[in-house]
Amino acid sequence: MKTFGDRLCQKSLDKLWSLMNKITAEDVRLDKNILDYVSRQPAPMCVMDVFENKDITIAIFILKHGVTMPMHDHPGMHGLLKVISGVVELNSYSLRTKSDHVFKLNEEIAAVRHRPISLDSNSSACILTPSEKNLHEISCVEGPAAFLDILSPPYDVDEFGKGPRPCTFFKVKSKLCTESADVVEEIQLSVIESPPDFYSSSLKYIGPPLKDYYNK
Ligand SMILES: [Fe+2]
Repeated sequence: MKTFGDRLCQKSLDKLWSLMNKITAEDVRLDKNILDYVSRQPAPMCVMDVFENKDITIAIFILKHGVTMPMHDHPGMHGLLKVISGVVELNSYSLRTKSDHVFKLNEEIAAVRHRPISLDSNSSACILTPSEKNLHEISCVEGPAAFLDILSPPYDVDEFGKGPRPCTFFKVKSKLCTESADVVEEIQLSVIESPPDFYSSSLKYIGPPLKDYYNK
């Protein structure tokens, strides 16, 4: 698939976005039994790996009711997020300047917070890019809530010989000013350790193999 590649193909991204908008929980065989299981097991989140190659990772994340996936980044990556069950609130952030290094613990970074959005299975997929809305935190307000996530390139694909892309976690350090429109406020973020109380357990994906979608 050449949607992301070295040079982003906007037309392919648009096509992938519109295909993704049609995906339902039934398509990936996410049923009540699985959602009930997620509610009963101890981890705040369950993850189903659907597909991965050197260009793309596709996974389904299922958050328990009331859980927030802490703020994290997707360095140098594009991503699409489509809710297929439940309701989540998505808070996205964009860094003010392009990062060219691996973040250090407690480092402070200027960012803007975008307006929070509520997403359910009727909502379109959300897009993140290396510079726009690359950081987010996701709260499950009606759960369990499941979303399909497509990232390119995957976290473990090397970026310019620097090894796997680290996923960094952040917290809001201070608020600088409040604005209107899509950007809610300018803020200062600080880098934190991976939150110890947030972890996931894996579930087996039992839906149709992904290649069937492409071979149709
Ligand atoms: Fe994410």
